[in-house]
Amino acid sequence: MPLLEVNNLKLHFITRQGPAQAVDGVSFKIEENETFGLIGESGCGKTTTALGIIRLIKSPGRIVEGSIYFDNRDIVPLSEEEMRLLRGQEIAIVRQEAQNALNPVMNIGKQIIEVILQHENVSRETAWARARNQLDLVGINGNRVKSYPHEFSGGMKQRAMVAIATACNPKFLILDEPTTGLDVIVQRQLLALINNLKKELNLTSILISHDLSVVAETCDKVAVMYAGKIVEQGDTVSMYQNPLHPYSQALIGAFPHLKGEKKKLKSIPGAPPRLIMPPEGCRFEPRCEHAMEKCKTIDPAVIEKDGHRVACHLID
Ligand SMILES: Nc1ncnc2c1ncn2[C@@H]1O[C@H](COP(=O)(O)OP(=O)(O)O)[C@@H](O)[C@H]1O
Ligand SMILES: [Mg+2]
Repeated sequence: MPLLEVNNLKLHFITRQGPAQAVDGVSFKIEENETFGLIGESGCGKTTTALGIIRLIKSPGRIVEGSIYFDNRDIVPLSEEEMRLLRGQEIAIVRQEAQNALNPVMNIGKQIIEVILQHENVSRETAWARARNQLDLVGINGNRVKSYPHEFSGGMKQRAMVAIATACNPKFLILDEPTTGLDVIVQRQLLALINNLKKELNLTSILISHDLSVVAETCDKVAVMYAGKIVEQGDTVSMYQNPLHPYSQALIGAFPHLKGEKKKLKSIPGAPPRLIMPPEGCRFEPRCEHAMEKCKTIDPAVIEKDGHRVACHLID
C-alpha cells in the first residue's frame, strides 16, 4: 500500500483570462520510505503539486479534480480544520525559499516549540527540550535554541527549517528546492542530513529540485513534469540511463553518470506553453524535435514502457 497516492490531480488558478492549468491530471504513488523526485523547468507546476498535497494552495488556486490518498484516506475533501491536524503532524513541508519563511523576530527554539505545542499536549519545558534535540538532530548545537534567524548562515537557516518541519515526527516530508541558493559544500551537507533523517525518522518524501545530481543522490524514483503534467516517471537509475520522453531526454539525457560531476538541467530552445488554454495536443509538441502531426491535436495517454510511465506518441 503506498503511503501517498495522487490520482489525476488537477489544480487550476482561476484567472480572468480562464483557468491556468498549473497541475493538470497528475498521478503518482509513493511507497513508505521512498524518496520521490520531481524535476522540470521553472513554472511547470512542481511547487503547486507540493502545495496541493499539503493543501496550502492559496486562492485563486484550487483543486478542481482528483484525489490524494494519504495513509489510505483521501485528503482532498478534508476541512481546513482536519487538515491542520495532519499538517506538521503527518505531512510537513520545507517550502521553496524556506530560509525567508523563518520569523525574523522570534528565536529558533520558539518557532520549533510552536509546532510542537500546536499538535501535542506536552509541557513547555518538554517542548523546549525537544527543540534543543531537534537542533542537534539537524546538526546545529542545541545551545543555539535562543538564537535568531539573522544569527544563522543560509545553510543553518535551511537546517532550522528542517528542524521545524520534522518537530512532530511527520511520516511524510516535502522538500521544495531545499538546496537552491546554497553553496556546493553546504548543499552536500544538507543532502547528507536529509539522507540521515530519512533513515532516523523513517521518512517518506518528495524532493523537488532542478539539480539532477541532487535528485540522483537522494531519490528512489523520479517524475519529470512539463507544463502541468508528468510526462514520464520511473526508477531514478532507469530514468537517468534510459529516458524515453523527448523532454526527459533533453533534460537528463546529457547527464554523465549518477555520481558524476554536478550538472544542472540542460536548457532547451523555446519556452513552455501558456497554462491558460494550452495546446490541445501534447504540450511539448511546439518544442519537440520528433513532433508528428497527431502530436498537435491528440494529448498522449500515459502508457507503461521499460518500467516507466510515459506519455508520448512516439512510444504509444
Ligand atoms: N496565484 C497564481 N495565479 C495564477 N497562476 C499561478 C499562481 N501561482 C502559480 N501560478 C502558475 O502556476 C504555474 C506553476 O507554478 P509553480 O508550481 O510555482 O512551478 P514550479 O514550482 O515548477 O516552478 C506557473 O506557470 C505559474 O504562473
Ligand atoms: Mg517551485
